[in-house]
This record gives sequence, structure tokens and C-alpha cells, in this order.
Amino acid sequence: MCGVIGYVGRGASPAFFLNALRRLEYRGYDSAGIAMLTADGVVIQRAEGKLSQLERKLDNLPATAKVGIGHTRWATHGKPTENNAHPHRSGPIVLLHNGIIENYRQLKEMLVAKGYEFLSETDTEVAAHLLHDEYKNQTQGNPEERMRLALREVVKQLKGAFAFGILCLDTPEVLYAAKLGSPLVVGQAEGESFLASGITALVEHTRQFLVVEDHELVVLKSTGIEIEHFNGYAVSRPFSKVEWSVAMMEKGGYRHFMLKEIHEHPQAIAQTLNGRIQRDSGTINIADLGVEKLPLKSLSRLQIVACGTSFYAASLSKYFIESVTHLPVEVDLASEYRYRTSTVNAQTLVVAVSQSGETADTLQAIKSARAAGAQTLAIVNVPGSTIAHACHAESLTKAGPEIGVASTKAFAAQLTDLYLLGLALAQERQALSASELRGYVDELVKIPSLVERALGLSESIEKLANRYHQLSSLLFIGRGPQWPVALEGSLKLKELSYIHAEAYAAGELKHGPIALIDENMSVVCLAPRDAYYEKTLSNIEEIKARGGRILAIGQENDAQLAALADDYIGIPECSETILPFMTTVPLHLFAYWIAVRKGTDVDQPRNLAKSVTVE
Ligand code: AGP
Repeated sequence: MCGVIGYVGRGASPAFFLNALRRLEYRGYDSAGIAMLTADGVVIQRAEGKLSQLERKLDNLPATAKVGIGHTRWATHGKPTENNAHPHRSGPIVLLHNGIIENYRQLKEMLVAKGYEFLSETDTEVAAHLLHDEYKNQTQGNPEERMRLALREVVKQLKGAFAFGILCLDTPEVLYAAKLGSPLVVGQAEGESFLASGITALVEHTRQFLVVEDHELVVLKSTGIEIEHFNGYAVSRPFSKVEWSVAMMEKGGYRHFMLKEIHEHPQAIAQTLNGRIQRDSGTINIADLGVEKLPLKSLSRLQIVACGTSFYAASLSKYFIESVTHLPVEVDLASEYRYRTSTVNAQTLVVAVSQSGETADTLQAIKSARAAGAQTLAIVNVPGSTIAHACHAESLTKAGPEIGVASTKAFAAQLTDLYLLGLALAQERQALSASELRGYVDELVKIPSLVERALGLSESIEKLANRYHQLSSLLFIGRGPQWPVALEGSLKLKELSYIHAEAYAAGELKHGPIALIDENMSVVCLAPRDAYYEKTLSNIEEIKARGGRILAIGQENDAQLAALADDYIGIPECSETILPFMTTVPLHLFAYWIAVRKGTDVDQPRNLAKSVTVE
């Protein structure tokens, strides 16, 4: 998962590349580099560490250049060092890469035997030398034509995933790209063309973008962009207009993107509801939800595939969707799903849930489901993303750009979209009466304002963090829909504060995990007044009897729970339908404030990346 940026046009400064890379830094941030091509040749500047390290060396780059590329890395092959940072050069070729070249060893042996000298440990350098070699083999045509032919030969030999940005010193006003498996978009403005791993890097320069699809080569010039298939035939597609504003991506006065995005839970939910629920009729607008093309009436079951936080949103939605449709809903980790024997048929709807729309495991899982004959739906937060392109239908979560690596508002938007899917199915299959459906629609409408009230707990949770931030381990427990909420809360704590945390279905405690309980163990217990309340209170008693410490998250004014717990957080009263939206908020805030107290890198936690585009 790396960030790629490219420019060709009237002229771009080093600051242009650096700022664009900052917008992509969430994709990977262990080293970075920029190459700029001028009449005097190419200047390449790389640095180990975050972009701030590269920023210190910008003066070594030309003040402006008509063509340039930049890269921020998440190391796959080769340690995060300056020498392994992209771009890599071979003769007149300068190249950078997002993805993994799986057959790089065999290619490297062949190229070494031909006399190519390797200076890095990366798979990317193999692509640079291979392209140089193929470029030398082309004897017909001008340099640009030879580059196009050489690129076609190179992509035939590569196995794995790649999004390349490429310069050639012999074509000083042309930028090249090739894409298979890793995300890439291009943008167009007056006299300028852009290349990037994601649209967030382009929105301040253009509103016109186009998603590069697999097996496509791109030639970018100041006068326009040409796309051709790896087989050589020309490809033509209209540009899309993106509505995101730069302001939406700034921190808006918050200390971290993550805190801003936690406070955007309400509008992420509201935006995702907008247009989909029709309050006057109490119905679901299936066209706006993006599911009108699916055979909703004839489906016999659902499968949902996802990773990480998206998997927990999917796991949570199972309870609601089954309750309103009586359709069986299986939820699978995408990385496991794709290796299992498929049991789908044309009456199975497989849903891929992904914030980025680029997660490799989820992409491969949904591709395997479609190939096996299932109906497929993408629930994604990034318009036109790769997973959406792989599905029959696309339903957009409207959380807006999520920059913090830890997913927060997107989780809320995903849950909203999945609830809407459940109601759309119930509506089209008459699984609910009109009044029942209206009742649920009325409940969904309440969520944004209730979640807004739950955000008021932030200050008390910040104080609470002072009592928990030094723990080395924590358990999270919940029953029913609160179990996936507990899983989400434990993931957030792990990935933000690096504290070991595990989540269990509360009923499982007595089957083993209770052996972990003693006076050193704290347990976050989700205990709202739902159908499981009494049994959850029993769990709390069992933990207290063994000396464990309880942080209970329940509904406000629950004196019984407050008396039992060592610490207690009370969320505003709400219906059982809405509870998961509400209990998630204190868990996101809890993880955030503990991470702040510990001083970890909240928006870019170690070892992580926002979009995991490698398997
Ligand atoms: C979320 O906090 C994590 N950073 C991670 O688990 C993430 O949810 C997972 O990688 C899936 O990403 P996606 O939603 O973009 O597919």
C-alpha cells in the first residue's frame, strides 16, 4: 500500500509533489521520494522515514519541472531505507510502484545475467531494469512509440499487482503508467494531467478524474490522456466529477483526523441515509441505494465479505438483516472466504464491504464469488473504486474522505448502508408490513442526533483514559450485536495504542477466557438494556468475584450497572435497533484518548496503512 503521484503540464514545484504525497501518506509512510525531469536531465531525491524527512531535502530538487513523479512507501520487499525508497532508475527510465511483483526473483536473475546492476532490495527495481531492457530492444518508431511497445512487453512478463508511474528521459514531456491490481486514477485540468493512487491527492487541482482499470497503460501529456489496453487497442471512457472539497480533508480544527472523523459519525450516518429513506411514505428508495438492479425478490441468502473494521460492521449487520428479512446472512473474513469451496448460486447475494474499495483480500473474495455465479454488491466509501468495478452493483457510503488510518465514521456509514440494505430487502420481499417498515425508517432517522449526544461523552472518556492507558492487556465482552461492537472496540484499542486487547462473546467467558481474570485484568463490558442485559450483569458478577476490574458501557441512569462497575459510561436512551451505533461511539473515543495519552501516532499508527492493497 503506497502512495503514487505524477504530473505533466506547464510546471510543478517540489512542494506540489510533497503536498500531493501528504494526501496519500495514510497509504504508507516509511520512506518517500520525488523525481523531476527538466531539460538538464532528471533529479531524484529520496528519504527514509516520513514525508517530513523528504521535506528537508526539497532544495535539492529543481524549482519547477514539466514532468515529475512522487512516492510514499509501505515496505513490502526490502527494509524502509533511502536506498529502497522509490523511484528507482535504470538508464533513461525512472519508475515507481504500488503493489507486489510476485515473480521478481526470476526476472532479477535474468536481468543480472544480462549485466544489470541492482542497487536496492526491492521488487520495483526489477521493473525499472526490465523496462529499460525492453526499451532498448525496440528499434522502430520515436522514443514515445518505443516506450509504448516496451511497456506492453514488460506487463506481459510481470506476475502480481502493480500501479506504475514512469518517466523516460528521452520523452521529457510525457508521463507513463500501467495498472494491474493496485489502485490508480488520472486527473485532467487545463494544460495539465495528473496521476495518483487516490482522488484525495487530486481534488485541489482538478474535479475531473477517471479510474484506471486493470490491464491498462496510460500516456499522459499536458494536452491530454490516452489509455490503451495491454493488448494495444485504445480505450475511451468519460471522466467523472468528484464532489469532495479540500476543506473536507483538512482537520477542521481538531487535533487529529481521527478525532474529527469520530465527531463526523452523525453526518456520515445522515449523508448515507439521505436520498435512501422516504420519510413521508416510510419506504426505502432502492434506486438511490444502488440495489435496484439486483434480483432482491428471488435471493435465498446473503454472504458478506470484508476485513478489519468493515468485517465488524458486516458482522453487526447480520443481526438486523436476519431479523427484518429472515434471510440467512453469513459473514466471512475476505482473506478466508476466497480459499473455501464456494457454495453460491444465482440466488446468493455476496456483499463486499470496504471503506477504501481497494482492499486486495476483499477484492479477490468478491471476484471469486462473482465468478462462481453469485450476485454481487459493493458497499464502498470511495466512488468508482476497484471493488465497486468488480461488482454488479455499488452502494456508496457517504462518509466523505476518511484520512485517519483507523476507520471510525466509515464504520458508522457502513452500518447505516447495511441496515438500509436489510430494509430494502424486507420492503421488496414484503417481509415487513408497511407499518413495521415505517417504524424502522423512523428509528433510522433518529440515529444522527442520538449519536451526536453520545459524542458529548468525550470529555469524561478522556479523563477515564488516564486510568487505563498504562494497562498491558484488556478484554472486551458483549452479547448479541454488542459482541461485534466489542470486537471493533478491541481492534481500535490495539491499532491505536498498541495495547493488547481481545474481545469475546460474553457467553464464552466461562468456556476458557475467564481464566485470565484476576485483579490485574480489566474488562470493558457492553451492557445496554437490551435482550441480553440480565445475562450480561451475571457476567459482570462472575468477573468481579475473581477480582477483575469492570468498565461498563450501558445506558444512562442505570444505577444498578453503575453500582456494579468500577467505571461506568452511560449512553443516551435509545431503541434496541439503534444501540450498536451508540455503544460504538464511546469505544472509538476510549481508544482515541488512550492513544493520545500514550503519545502514539494516532492518525498513522505504526506498521499500518489505510488501504491494504496487498494480500
Ligand atoms: C480499520 O480501523 C483498520 N485500519 C483496518 O482493519 C481496515 O478496516 C481494513 O483494512 C479494511 O479496510 P477497507 O474497509 O478499506 O476494506
